[in-house]
Amino acid sequence: MEWKANWICPPQPMGDVCPVYEKRFSLPSPVQKAVLLITAMGTYEAVLNGERVSGYVLAPGFTSYLKRHQVQEYDITAMLGAENTLRVTVGRGWYRSPMPGWLTPEEKSEKQNTPAGLTAQVVLTLCDGSKRTLCTDTSWGVAESPIRFSEIYDGEVYDARVIPSQFVPAQLLEHPTDCLIPQEGEEIREQERMKPLRVFTTPKGETVVDFGQEIAGYVEITLDAKAGDLVELSHGEVLDKEGNFYNENYRAAKAKLTYICRDGRQTYKPRLTFYGFRFVRVDAFPGQVHPSAFTAIVVHSQMKRTGDFSCSNVLLNQLFSNVIWSQKGNFLDIPTDCPQRDERLGWTGDAQVFIKTASYNYDVQRFFRKWLKDLAADQWENGAVSHVNPAWGAEGAGSSVWGDAAVICPWQLYLTYADKEVLQSQYESMTRYLGFIAGSTKEPDLWIGGFHYGDWLGLDADDREHPQVITPEMLSLGDNAEFYKGASRDDLIASAFYAYSTQLVIKIGKILGRDTGEYEASYERIRRAFQERFPEYHTQTEYVMAAYFDLAKDCQKAADDLAEMIIRDGTKLRTGFVGTAYVLHTLSRYGHTDLAYSLLLRQEYPSWLYPVTKGATTIWEHWDGIKPDGSFWSSDMNSFNHYAYGAVADWLYGVVTGINTVEEAPGFEKVLIAPQPDSRLQWAQASIQTRKGLVRSAWRQTQDGIRYEITVPSPAQIVIDGQTHSVAPGEYIFYSENRG
Ligand code: BGC
Repeated sequence: MEWKANWICPPQPMGDVCPVYEKRFSLPSPVQKAVLLITAMGTYEAVLNGERVSGYVLAPGFTSYLKRHQVQEYDITAMLGAENTLRVTVGRGWYRSPMPGWLTPEEKSEKQNTPAGLTAQVVLTLCDGSKRTLCTDTSWGVAESPIRFSEIYDGEVYDARVIPSQFVPAQLLEHPTDCLIPQEGEEIREQERMKPLRVFTTPKGETVVDFGQEIAGYVEITLDAKAGDLVELSHGEVLDKEGNFYNENYRAAKAKLTYICRDGRQTYKPRLTFYGFRFVRVDAFPGQVHPSAFTAIVVHSQMKRTGDFSCSNVLLNQLFSNVIWSQKGNFLDIPTDCPQRDERLGWTGDAQVFIKTASYNYDVQRFFRKWLKDLAADQWENGAVSHVNPAWGAEGAGSSVWGDAAVICPWQLYLTYADKEVLQSQYESMTRYLGFIAGSTKEPDLWIGGFHYGDWLGLDADDREHPQVITPEMLSLGDNAEFYKGASRDDLIASAFYAYSTQLVIKIGKILGRDTGEYEASYERIRRAFQERFPEYHTQTEYVMAAYFDLAKDCQKAADDLAEMIIRDGTKLRTGFVGTAYVLHTLSRYGHTDLAYSLLLRQEYPSWLYPVTKGATTIWEHWDGIKPDGSFWSSDMNSFNHYAYGAVADWLYGVVTGINTVEEAPGFEKVLIAPQPDSRLQWAQASIQTRKGLVRSAWRQTQDGIRYEITVPSPAQIVIDGQTHSVAPGEYIFYSENRG
């Protein structure tokens, strides 16, 4: 975008202290309109005449800043007076925090030593129509703010006694402006406020506030105090076996809130960072700790809630609630793996497996469009997709399943929202990705070799040969990965996804009117090569890949063998990130819906409902995050708010209540409703507020059979008991004699 203003920064480095910039200006006469265009190298808070200019928190969000740095535009007309003071405090945010957690000390200090740059323009349209623009330059002052420290991982330190004074002229900062773009993503906003469920004392004697729900956001405190009194809070997700506060699983992220009081009654909340938590340990507090002093504020991107599911099984309802909360907790400007430990990164694989569920639960079109542009911008020259997006200092690219986000995510936006534009704008990124695979595989028409995360966290990891002890040296990601993979072959998974992405690119190319001949020929070769190279399958996930992606010579047999294997394994999943996302779909597609329900409704470890029986309020990263005896599986990789396994919700929508999009008429322009009830549920219902209107599918077991209530906003095919009914938009009731 065209940009006139300079970047400015403090003339002297301020260390950890966040600078506050100030511009005073007077208006000789009222203005017709005034807008503030602004962005910073770090999260910022802009305050005009004592009032925050917008409810958008943690602006400018997280993008691949050097290529795409969002500028926010706020209408400030109503806030102006004759004399005006604009103040902007800049924290480290994503831009300058030493993240990701695995950076070397040198890389960390490089990020930390980057100046807290600010660039802004106040554009005034005077009553005579003329314009006046105030740009950031050396006429802006800068001073130390009360925020003494602010980082994404470590939290915030605020000294309420500090009153910014002694403003000195800001200095011009040499930094490009051609990377500036208008705001593209959804705004990040405070969404909900929650009071504590209880305040209690742990066996260790710690005072802990329990908000009853794991969230991402921050705590607001209100108290009477004397200047210099200290409040210190630590954040945690779960209690340990003995019921004590626990946050070792945050690893290097300190996730602390420190507030130094001024005199009198006061309210404080962090301004430039966020935390993932349910519990807060009160490490310091003046006087009695009373629940009324604490409010948890839920923060995430603005997204309209669209989907809902409920049924007669309360545990399943809680599971669905956990999926929703993991989406809220991890859709804070980018789709993150988790909101608490020293990652909080846009892991592409996680986003890819979850996007279908995400797009039914909420309207995430704008949210993902922006993220996909960063994905394309950060794609390597050879077409490899970064493991995390924005990459922003995180090395590494090219894993299958993770990289396939480049194709699968735009495709899902097309299916759910009929978004053809995103297919158009991402097409080059997709084909570059396929080019990368073709150029890096060791054998043509398959994807052999290279680095892959494989069936990440697969429960069959023990079947692999690897040392059991993880040393700190191994924790550099590349090596570490080997210890968290399931037993499925990387080459098989990678080749299956190569086939799948190629197949999608063919469909997409056709929609866009491109010549897809090359990809069609390639797909046929991949399929043949897959069958020759992988005639047999050894793990649940391998069977899933072969059957779900239609690659096995005999997919029905592969699915039957999968069902047999699962039963042999004790009707238990042994899958990781990759297999788990598709296993129920594979079973139900090939006539094993009954077994799929058995897996879904299982309550013992490992299962989706096991964490629910352990009190989970969000989706866990590990099936055994907390083991049956109350101990933790590890402190190293143990997030309790990781949405990947929450992808099971797309089976709830798509199979239990049977709501499906139709490829030929996406965005619910046509609908396919094919519920598959089961006698273990009395009733189930789901609805999605689509662009075309409300889709709802509900069924209930009655004495005479099953009663279905279906609402469709567009022409639909409704499949009940194997019979297809073509219907016009409207509300329908069906009965089937069979009990599910
Ligand atoms: C993240 C995952 C991610 C993985 C890569 C982890 O540290 O939390 O969710 O996908 O690394 O395999």
